[in-house]
Amino acid sequence: MQIHTTVESLRAARRAASRVALVPTMGNLHEGHITLMRQAGEHADEVIASIFVNRLQFGPKDDFDKYPRTLDADCEKLEAAGVAHLFTPNESVMYPTRQTYHVDPDPAQVATLEGSFRPGHFRGVATVVLKLLNIVQPDVALFGKKDYQQLMVLRNMVNQLAIPVDVLPGETVRADDGLALSSRNRYLSPDERSEASRIYRCLSRIRDAIRGGDTHFDTLERAAMSELAANRWQPDYISVRRQSDLQVPQTPSDGLVVLAAARLGATRLIDNLEI
Ligand code: PAJ
Repeated sequence: MQIHTTVESLRAARRAASRVALVPTMGNLHEGHITLMRQAGEHADEVIASIFVNRLQFGPKDDFDKYPRTLDADCEKLEAAGVAHLFTPNESVMYPTRQTYHVDPDPAQVATLEGSFRPGHFRGVATVVLKLLNIVQPDVALFGKKDYQQLMVLRNMVNQLAIPVDVLPGETVRADDGLALSSRNRYLSPDERSEASRIYRCLSRIRDAIRGGDTHFDTLERAAMSELAANRWQPDYISVRRQSDLQVPQTPSDGLVVLAAARLGATRLIDNLEI
């Protein structure tokens, strides 16, 4: 695997390749990321991974400084997954001047769920992803459904700005007890880690109830919120939405997804299940 820290070096490598897939990450790679890399390999001759902890998408109280940085271990995993190139710029490469041009996602799509709890987050995500797409110019780019609203925002950005790339989604990879893999899981204490899969069980119960014909979404959501709160969680939301636009379904309809975010101790976890 070649490691590129400058735009020039990455672009030269990209020009030498034919069909390229990009998998952007912030590092501290786990099996969820690696599954995306393998999936990317099925759609391109060469996979380019990026690792960049993007300050723009972190709020002032977020964990930017303590976000885990594990480059050596990440490189080993990428090598083993057959990734051809790693782009790992530092901040002065990604943001040589203060970034004053931004991508502002549709307010209707970011005024809800993660966007409402993390103001400016998706603007930071969209801006860095557009920049990565411009640097790499991949044929396809892969993003996980674990970050469901992020996937929607990026798909819409690519469509509305006519960016010449195919966006492909990856399924959420989970631990044996159902907890979605996340770099932030490492913040959990052993006690919290065994409690953490409750969020998956709550989502599964809602999914199964709706699949079984239950249309009382409010009741299902409230019961799950209470269960989390009764077990030392601080839930931000559990909400049944339309997959297409993440708005609240006005009538019972197909194509739903249930999304959740909750804090366990100091760690904020998000998850979702398509119904
Ligand atoms: P990061 O959290 O590192 O995630 C990188 C990619 O891996 C994202 O597309 C995310 O949805 C996917 N992913 C994370 N956990 C996953 C899991 N358990 N199963 C499957 N896929 C998973 O998301 C970001 O970084 C950043 O916002 C980024 C897009 C890189 C922009 O900075």
